[in-house]
Amino acid sequence: MKNVNKVPIWFMRQAGRYLPEYREIRSQNKDFLDLCFNPNLSAKISLQPIERFDLDFIILFSDILVIPFALGQNVSFMKNHGPILPPISSIKELKYKNLQASINKISNVFETLSILNSKKKEKKLIGFCGGPFTVLNYMIEGGSSVDHKKIKIFVSKEKQKALELIKILTEISIEYLKRQADSGADYLQIFESWAGLLENDDYENFIIKPNQEISKELKKYSNKIQIIQFPRGSKKNYNLFLENVPCDVISLDLNFPKEIIGQAKKKKIEIQGNLDPVVLLDGGEKLEEKILEVLEKFKNNNHIFNLSHGILPGTQIKNVEKVVQIVRNYDLAK
Ligand code: CP3
Repeated sequence: MKNVNKVPIWFMRQAGRYLPEYREIRSQNKDFLDLCFNPNLSAKISLQPIERFDLDFIILFSDILVIPFALGQNVSFMKNHGPILPPISSIKELKYKNLQASINKISNVFETLSILNSKKKEKKLIGFCGGPFTVLNYMIEGGSSVDHKKIKIFVSKEKQKALELIKILTEISIEYLKRQADSGADYLQIFESWAGLLENDDYENFIIKPNQEISKELKKYSNKIQIIQFPRGSKKNYNLFLENVPCDVISLDLNFPKEIIGQAKKKKIEIQGNLDPVVLLDGGEKLEEKILEVLEKFKNNNHIFNLSHGILPGTQIKNVEKVVQIVRNYDLAK
């Protein structure tokens, strides 16, 4: 049973590089995508942070870049470099046939979720995908980027081609998430990590509309599934996003507009967030202060404790334990 006086907690990117038990499995599995498509190992990695910290949510171990792979783009992960994709500029450059054939290429992910579903007990299981624009960003940039020059030029100079790709990414994301719901996911998070790159009409067409379609289609498909939207970096557009995109939980970064707290409450939307991962990395007294600050800030909302973005590599286990301990001891009834 859910304890109404306690704040539930999990961490974005909780299964990964800062955990020695993950690094051990990873060192024996050189190909990152192969690891994502190994249901037994992926399930095991998803459960590692639960075994260590007894968190309330299990997030599927996978990556947002399985979608470009499903569409026929080559995706590899180089040590200390991150993802590498041969950049494309139109769908024609991919060997894309149809939705079902693409989904079949990544169907092992559903098997991982089924394993986790059989083991989750009272924990909630989270599936996910990248937001269409965020995935497009990696497909066009060819990997991580500092200035995001290519995607910005692509959106402004090749708008039709960009929208054509967004349409396919939206369709495949919907199908992918429906299948994740069928496989036992209780929550689905859409990581629109690069929403903050766009403004005005582009924000409307590339961020709001595709995510609105994803949310609406999933709600139509299942009245059980809970949707977490994370339009990171949206700044003042967070309000517009929440006004237009149906969701059950809104994940907040560090620079969200204050009014969103009241706006979410009115719409009965839960707030997820928003401890700074740098504060978690640094630890010490400031960490304790900031944890309490986050708890106080959202105590009148339904709140899921989390970070403002993913856990950073190098984060110490003892700092993560500290957060869990403080959040567990925090009593909303007092
Ligand atoms: O939350 C979890 O722990 C579940 C697994 C998960 C991964 N990636 C595993 C991963 C999730 C939810 C993601 C999401 C993801 N992947 C995002 C959105 C969230 C965000 O951080 O903005 C993005 C943009 C990616 C793309 C990606 N994958 C990049 C840029 C990189 C390289 C940099 C990095 O973060 O490590 C990855 C690799 C990746 N994805 C790793 C893991 C555990 C590290 C790979 C390794 O072990 O070498």
